[in-house]
Amino acid sequence: MRTTQRKTLPLGLLFAGSMLLAGRAAAQDVTTIPVETQHNAIVLQTDAEKHLNMVYLGAKLANTSEYSRIQKMYKQADDSGVQNDVYTPSGSASLGEPAITVTHADGNKSLNLTYVSHTVSKVDDDISLLVVTLKDPVYDFEVKLYYKTYFKEDVTEQWSVIKHNEKGVVTLNKYASANLNLKGNTTGGFWLKQYHGNWAMEVQPEEARLTHGIKTIDSKLGTRANLYEHSMFAISLDKPATEDEGKVFYGAMEWSGNFRVDFELDVANNLKIIAGINNAASEYHLKPGAEFTTPAFLYTYSDHGKGDASRKLQSWARKYKIVDGEGSRLTLLNNWESTYFDFNESKLAGLLKDTKKLGVDLFLLDDGWFGNSHPRNGDNAGLGDWQENKQKLPNGISSLVKEAQANGVKFGIWIEPEMVNPASDLYKAHPDWVIKQPNRPEKYFRNQLVLDLANPKVQDFVFGVVDNLFTKNPDLAYIKWDCNAVIYNAYSAYLKKDQSHIYVDYVNGLYNVLKRVRAKYPKVPLMLCSGGGGRVDYGALQYFTEFWPSDNTDPLERVFIQWEYSFFYPAITSSNHVTDWGKQPIKYRVDVAMMGKMGFDIVIGKLSENDLSFCQSALKNYDALKDVIWHGDQYRLASPWDNDAASIMYVNTDKSKAVMFNYLVNNRYGSGSKVPVRLKGLDPNKKYRVKEINLYPGTGSVLGNEDLTFTGDFLMNVGINPEASAYHTSVVLQLEAI
Ligand code: GLA
Repeated sequence: MRTTQRKTLPLGLLFAGSMLLAGRAAAQDVTTIPVETQHNAIVLQTDAEKHLNMVYLGAKLANTSEYSRIQKMYKQADDSGVQNDVYTPSGSASLGEPAITVTHADGNKSLNLTYVSHTVSKVDDDISLLVVTLKDPVYDFEVKLYYKTYFKEDVTEQWSVIKHNEKGVVTLNKYASANLNLKGNTTGGFWLKQYHGNWAMEVQPEEARLTHGIKTIDSKLGTRANLYEHSMFAISLDKPATEDEGKVFYGAMEWSGNFRVDFELDVANNLKIIAGINNAASEYHLKPGAEFTTPAFLYTYSDHGKGDASRKLQSWARKYKIVDGEGSRLTLLNNWESTYFDFNESKLAGLLKDTKKLGVDLFLLDDGWFGNSHPRNGDNAGLGDWQENKQKLPNGISSLVKEAQANGVKFGIWIEPEMVNPASDLYKAHPDWVIKQPNRPEKYFRNQLVLDLANPKVQDFVFGVVDNLFTKNPDLAYIKWDCNAVIYNAYSAYLKKDQSHIYVDYVNGLYNVLKRVRAKYPKVPLMLCSGGGGRVDYGALQYFTEFWPSDNTDPLERVFIQWEYSFFYPAITSSNHVTDWGKQPIKYRVDVAMMGKMGFDIVIGKLSENDLSFCQSALKNYDALKDVIWHGDQYRLASPWDNDAASIMYVNTDKSKAVMFNYLVNNRYGSGSKVPVRLKGLDPNKKYRVKEINLYPGTGSVLGNEDLTFTGDFLMNVGINPEASAYHTSVVLQLEAI
């Protein structure tokens, strides 16, 4: 039986995640490998046949010697075995959904993986790296599993490196990043929260109990991979976790292309999670001696609900993943919605003045500035020809950068360098750089096709688009990097016989380009955009400072969209722009944008005097609070899905400053805040002065003029009523310890 345990592990073979040791199992020994972070542990353990199983995921045990006793408590196995392989192979004794499927050089499809050894090394005080080596006893085939743990943040990144020394090429038919097993010790089962969406309808959540069999979330779109689904998900154990209660596991692929996550609930109620690149149409040919490295699967776990899990991921992202996560950001005025493709130098000169007048840091010139033989005056031409359009911009970008500087603001620009319109010089010059089937009619998405980033020459071209802009305009301060099309008719002229590599090599090609950009321009702010939020993942975000959540900027919709992204991403990454979408007043639009990285995309000249002065003073308030919003701890207080008003707050590290945002999301008669909303994360012993800010000119605070000083104790146990209603649809409260 696969799960039999032979012997308790000698102490010397038991490794905590923070120790620098190496181990090898003797024939009869059971090796137990705990992968620990501050609060959690995953436990791996060998069985009688030296298969390595994952026997535990949950709160870390006080007594590490007890990890080796966990598996004995489970009596689930029958003849077919309950299989909890740490990386399920296929074609031998494991019959569940595989993490890996291969075709050996001799055509055989059977793989068996047994434990060989492991090492644990410390990267620094916080980070450790566990590497487990598994081998097939029959074939010269090896998988190394990497677990990079961030101790304080309770976060793990897990990936695999696959290698062989067979006599010819081995085909990898499936090659997951991670395979996790959650024990079925509850009657309440496992609850999956997942996200689907579409353009302007990003991150729509659904939560349901997993039934037996396999549930898969995936993408096969190639680029703009999150248009319909996200790889980010939450699994609650027993019952759906709330913000502050319940056991919850969060996972997401760090990969900007096709992904696949399988959730298999087995006959004994255990849940197997297998996450990785989508293997659909993507067999990978691996030569002897070569290594295939999967992208990382990212996860955390909390015993204290979804809020705690989110804060773990958010602080991990700020500290370790996104570019300059603990640094600053630029507020901006964008021209996409105010001009679309219709602008020229004099119009832009006016917008640069408006940028200064409004009081933001930067002007962002959007789509439409390039293309000459095929001018970019609409979305049907010009992509690929990254030269300034001579009619619109006779003096080029450099004169705009100078003009911005003369106005005391910075200048940024939009590009979409991975794409090409058939109406372009690039398309005519390099048809072989374009992803399309040689013998089929072309199929367009937004009138465009995707360039073949598997081809190193195309990588050079795409890098060149960015590099030329910065070389010619060293003071260029910001880039919005867009990606609007999916991949149809996947075919690479460059890959020749390895067509099934296209989806994988595309993303790795993209990452090569982004690595080169970051090597040369380490800190310049880059916004990750993909026709709205069609590409939001930590694989890409390690090269970006922020992302564009959605083209839908109706603030009522944005409350929900920004709320859902906050489960995985910190507020500093969420670009929230004030636009003319929706029916809400300017105050509501500004208040909603303020809960993340604020920007504007409206015609300043059309604002009434009061609207303009409101925006200007809100920007001053933002300046005073942005440090708390960008770097503080976030607490979701009242969900827009369940309440008339949504409430969310941010607290700085020493709990001396906080801000609470409240948005009415129900416009039916009498809707509004009826009861106080309990705050979180404050110091109970501190006294806080509460002040309503972002008041529209001529209006007083809804909270009146009385003394609004409360103890943290009161605010967290009783709460405060923000009095959001049809008369005050959004209320922003600032808290300062006195
Ligand atoms: C995409 C982006 C928009 C805008 C347009 C320009 O749709 O999401 O913000 O930049 O492209 O064409």
